[in-house]
Amino acid sequence: MKLSVDLINPYEIEIGSNIIKKLNTYLKENYKNSKILIISDDLVYKIHKEKLIKELDGFFYKEFIIKNGENSKSTENLIKILEFAAENQYKRNDLIIAFGGGVVGDISGLVASLYLRGVDYISIPTTFLSAIDSSVGGKTAVNLKAGKNLCGTFYQPKKVFIDTDFLKTLSDYYFNDGLAEAIKYGMIKDKSIFDEISKENVSKTYENLPSIIKKCLDIKKDVVKDDEKDFGIRQILNYGHTFAHAIEKNSNFEISHGHAVALGMKIMVKNFYESFYDDFIKVLKKYNLDKEIDFDTEKILKVCMVDKKSRNDRINIIVVRNLGTCEILNIDLKDLRKIYENR
Ligand code: GLY
Repeated sequence: MKLSVDLINPYEIEIGSNIIKKLNTYLKENYKNSKILIISDDLVYKIHKEKLIKELDGFFYKEFIIKNGENSKSTENLIKILEFAAENQYKRNDLIIAFGGGVVGDISGLVASLYLRGVDYISIPTTFLSAIDSSVGGKTAVNLKAGKNLCGTFYQPKKVFIDTDFLKTLSDYYFNDGLAEAIKYGMIKDKSIFDEISKENVSKTYENLPSIIKKCLDIKKDVVKDDEKDFGIRQILNYGHTFAHAIEKNSNFEISHGHAVALGMKIMVKNFYESFYDDFIKVLKKYNLDKEIDFDTEKILKVCMVDKKSRNDRINIIVVRNLGTCEILNIDLKDLRKIYENR
């Protein structure tokens, strides 16, 4: 399955079982004389290294491996990777391969956008969550002390390979993390995604998984095409995310992104779509995505204030009042407090 992200510099996403097998040919056709810098994390690299290295036959490469987990998406690691690239004399025609989940993808994209004012990178997501979200669309980032993704750029990859076989080694917890983002796409744009997830038992071996991934990315690529730099419509991809980022941060990232997105959406459904609340909770419970949260209101709002969708004392939130459609509402931070308190 192939999709094209139609920006000024368009790129392709390929989805399917064993898609990694196409990497060597792609590299020979596009990066014949380039050195490769692989950025990955220790867990992913331990499990999947062999499959990647096999595809680098004929290429010089080095690896920079970060520790698995959100805390690695740091300014310290960003500088270390940039210094590593410089010490090893990577040049402008060289290539970065982001091989891992969202943390690896985000920091690799940022390195690629900064190093020598920009080198090419390709993305090989290994989690369901990063396959349907961060590997596509060119948002790159590291976290700052005040919050998630506060330092970043927009910088598109040259190609995305989504090999669904990598997803098979995910734990149920991390598979369901991705499912929360798929539920998000269902809520904001495509009811059929939500219906399928609620009716079927979607697991890492689910036959129709590539088609769910494609449906999610069909939405994402269209939204990114219309608003690459996130000034307008792209904000709808952040349904549930204002509270989700605050929940992640307040849990010291023990609650992972997708699980936090599920809880963020739960707050939004409770406040804006109460007639759907029971159906929504049923789906969250089915995939172990439901949880009571009791983080202090002030601590949650403090993180929300630095959300990239906030300006002065107002913030844009995404609201769903009907399955498969959404709107952007600009509200006062006082109202955001009320929404959180009414969770
Ligand atoms: N993850 C939301 C976006 O890419 O805009």
